[in-house]
Amino acid sequence: MAITKTLDDLFLDTLKDIYFAEKQILKALPKMARASQSEEGKAGFLQHRDETQGQIERLEQVFEILGKSTRGKTCEAIQGIIAEGEEIMEEFKGSPALDAGLISSAQAVEHYEIARYGTLIAWANQLGLKDAVPLLQANLKEEEATDKKLTQLAETAANAKGTKAA
Ligand SMILES: [Fe+2]
Ligand SMILES: [Fe+2]
Repeated sequence: MAITKTLDDLFLDTLKDIYFAEKQILKALPKMARASQSEEGKAGFLQHRDETQGQIERLEQVFEILGKSTRGKTCEAIQGIIAEGEEIMEEFKGSPALDAGLISSAQAVEHYEIARYGTLIAWANQLGLKDAVPLLQANLKEEEATDKKLTQLAETAANAKGTKAA
């Protein structure tokens, strides 16, 4: 028998996806901070780690609003993006282009999050989940601000540094 799945199901699945993703990101950010050659980069990754902790708590509130238990669902996309970042950390260790590479990986993460939160906000509005919308919007705002900061870090220092031989 075919099961009829609706936007409610899609919303919950996607919430589980981003919850899983945020937890992976929480673990990846301290590694990126350690790998970063610039102090500004290190501080930025650590600051976003703390923000990510708060984002996870907001997502837990959304599960509560839905009356569903808090559960993640394996997100292969974020695993792939993080694996690519780890590859850069390994292959560019000690190289002038390392920070430019780290920033590029971090921006791939942010863009994934921005895509997910944009969708979740639209669906929460459609489903009349009024209390969930501001929580998701708060997360989206932090991801967008982080993305902008990363662009700035790349354009003011990391990209130029990457062009010089060590
Ligand atoms: Fe996040
Ligand atoms: Fe983020």
